[in-house]
Amino acid sequence: MIDISNLSKSFGSFKAVENLNLNIQKGEIYGLIGPNGSGKTTTILMLLDILNPDPGAKITIDGKEIPKRINDIYYKIGFMPQELSLYLDLTIEQNLRFFGELYKIPKSTLNSHIQEVLELIDLTEFKKRIISKCSGGMQRRCSLAVALLHRPEILILDEPTVGVDPELRIEFWNYFKDISKERGVTILLTTHYLAESINCDRIGLMNKKILISGTPMELMEKVRKLKNLEKLPDMEEVYIYYTLQEKKKKYKEGINHEL
Ligand SMILES: Nc1ncnc2c1ncn2[C@@H]1O[C@H](COP(=O)(O)OP(=O)(O)O)[C@@H](O)[C@H]1O
Ligand SMILES: [Mg+2]
Repeated sequence: MIDISNLSKSFGSFKAVENLNLNIQKGEIYGLIGPNGSGKTTTILMLLDILNPDPGAKITIDGKEIPKRINDIYYKIGFMPQELSLYLDLTIEQNLRFFGELYKIPKSTLNSHIQEVLELIDLTEFKKRIISKCSGGMQRRCSLAVALLHRPEILILDEPTVGVDPELRIEFWNYFKDISKERGVTILLTTHYLAESINCDRIGLMNKKILISGTPMELMEKVRKLKNLEKLPDMEEVYIYYTLQEKKKKYKEGINHEL
């Protein structure tokens, strides 16, 4: 569904993303997992044609080349940005109406779409509340509702669980699982909470590039064997292991280069 090869992004002499390769299948929840500054948001903004990649990258979404055919795919994608992008002085319902019109959802069906996402994200009883009077968690829920409003086939969620309390975080993961399993929606999301990766079908551990990709269990099992551990390591240990491997590889390449 989403195929990326050779994706890089430089800001001046600084490389935020370096040679990233990634394939995401239809209907799966794929997590880009990495600490702050590892290039997750930059990657997502290039997928959405908000940032231009360095030359040489190839991106296709549902078979359409990006950026050339972004207009053919734009309406199939729902996006929840990292930062809040709702109108603070409008109510939840008014925000949904505004974004629905922006997405050109026909007037005749807009009301039913709004009702559907309000129910799905448990916001119906708060729909008349002004965003500035909503809690952080409720604002995040409203952002997710906006992303779902036009019934997208692909959802791109940038740090959807940041600033969300633990109880609501569990609820969020349940929404994601329902949406992907029941509707076949493909979800690409990012998180810097390594422990959350366990909720994804597959993950890519990210540090400018994908260090390793697989199911969370596969990766933990791999590191357990490689390090000869008795117990399964947690995802932080797995991340540190692959970051160190990458550093060693680069160091060796550097030495070879000097010779
Ligand atoms: N517009 C920009 N100009 C310069 N540096 C940037 C810009 N956007 C991001 N960066 C840098 O690129 C790196 C990756 O950022 P980002 O993709 O936001 O990481 P993440 O989302 O994983 O936290 C960071 O070091 C960040 O400071
Ligand atoms: Mg980010």
